[in-house]
Amino acid sequence: MSSADNLIFHVRPGGCLTGNMRVPGDKSISHRSIMLGSLAEGTTHIRGFLEGEDSLATLQAFRELGVDIEGPADGEVTIQGVGMHGLKAPAGVLDLGNSGTSMRLLVGLLAGQGLALTLVGDRSLSGRPMRRVTDPLAAMGARVETTEQGTAPLKIQPVEELTAIDYRLPVASAQIKSCLLLAGLYASGTTRITEPAPTRDHTERMLSGFGYPVVKEGATVSLNGGGKLTACDIDIPADISSAAFFLVGATIASGSDLLLKHVGINPTRDGVINILRLMGADIEILNRQDVGGEPVADLRVRAARLRGIAIPVDQVPLAIDEFPALFVAAACAEGTTVLTGAEELRVKESDRIQVMADGLQALGVDATPTPDGIVIQGGPIRGGRVGSHGDHRIAMAFAMAALRAEGEIVIDDCSNVNTSFPGFVALAASAGLAIESKKEN
Ligand code: S3P
Repeated sequence: MSSADNLIFHVRPGGCLTGNMRVPGDKSISHRSIMLGSLAEGTTHIRGFLEGEDSLATLQAFRELGVDIEGPADGEVTIQGVGMHGLKAPAGVLDLGNSGTSMRLLVGLLAGQGLALTLVGDRSLSGRPMRRVTDPLAAMGARVETTEQGTAPLKIQPVEELTAIDYRLPVASAQIKSCLLLAGLYASGTTRITEPAPTRDHTERMLSGFGYPVVKEGATVSLNGGGKLTACDIDIPADISSAAFFLVGATIASGSDLLLKHVGINPTRDGVINILRLMGADIEILNRQDVGGEPVADLRVRAARLRGIAIPVDQVPLAIDEFPALFVAAACAEGTTVLTGAEELRVKESDRIQVMADGLQALGVDATPTPDGIVIQGGPIRGGRVGSHGDHRIAMAFAMAALRAEGEIVIDDCSNVNTSFPGFVALAASAGLAIESKKEN
């Protein structure tokens, strides 16, 4: 990266968050809508699509696989589905940028297509573990090569057919589960996946929405290969993972009263609400409704005093992307917050335990990383300069910390905020955060 690429957030201290807002569409659901819409028979219309770099990487990959996709324009996308066997070999490699979800789900979806393909990603994605998907895919008969370190590029070779497996996930991961379910669409027999703890179930819900039978029994989800998907309309709710920054920001900044509209509150994603409430947050859930098989609501959040807690381990997979924001909440709480059972945070877009601990310490917060979590002592937050390590969620979490800081917070390397939250700076500023972004030259 040249220094000209260094997008820096400057956030002045203080202020509060007020008004109404709708944050961009859910990233996980946006990816899946492109994947299933492309494989369906008929035309799929999507509204509320996330026009962020990650979901656009998935959209572009399917264009390169020969699918006619119109948009996105104002969150609307129209896909002319090619059917289960209609994808074509792309001219070159498929570049998935920063997006782990694109890579891990696509390798499953593509492993049984009978096509030779290569999936690549940026530096962060090329350092993330891929054997967690390629090992079980190999057990299904897929041929996917990784580097010696078990990372991308992933080279997929055509195979005659895939065979279903009965697989117990070694880690609670929706990406692994989804990868194998998508491979299972092309496998002979019944693919059965058992999870050690519940993880986001958007793939299962959306498969059912496209008319594909999926059976859920306790911790096991199964499907039979060889079926078909029927096109449908999809209304994507606002992403609770993006709303999370504002839930935390409004909670920690006195005088805040913010309404977050049309947020997805799927029970496999609502850990951030549960954890913040356990800490004393004031979050009201209004206008609950079901939109296309996903629960949606408006969230009203007002400032509240927080107390430190031991975060219940069963909430960890349900809040897995929200810990950078939750660590900022913990820094503003009275007492100690202890997170355990969250070693997965070390293999996200960055090592989120270490990078958050470093940043919090740079701001004068007592934060001690542990192998599977962190211990944070609430207290004053100084101004200072922190690194986001190119991780979108770290950048946005530290931006919110400024609401309670004693001086300006400067955050380096923020351009990846566009992977999940285009328009973050303008939206946050409109609600009252004193944030500006500048290119360093
Ligand atoms: C995702 C699953 C989670 C999450 C990621 C999106 C998905 O990853 O962190 O941002 O859409 O399936 P893991 O499955 O690695 O936990």
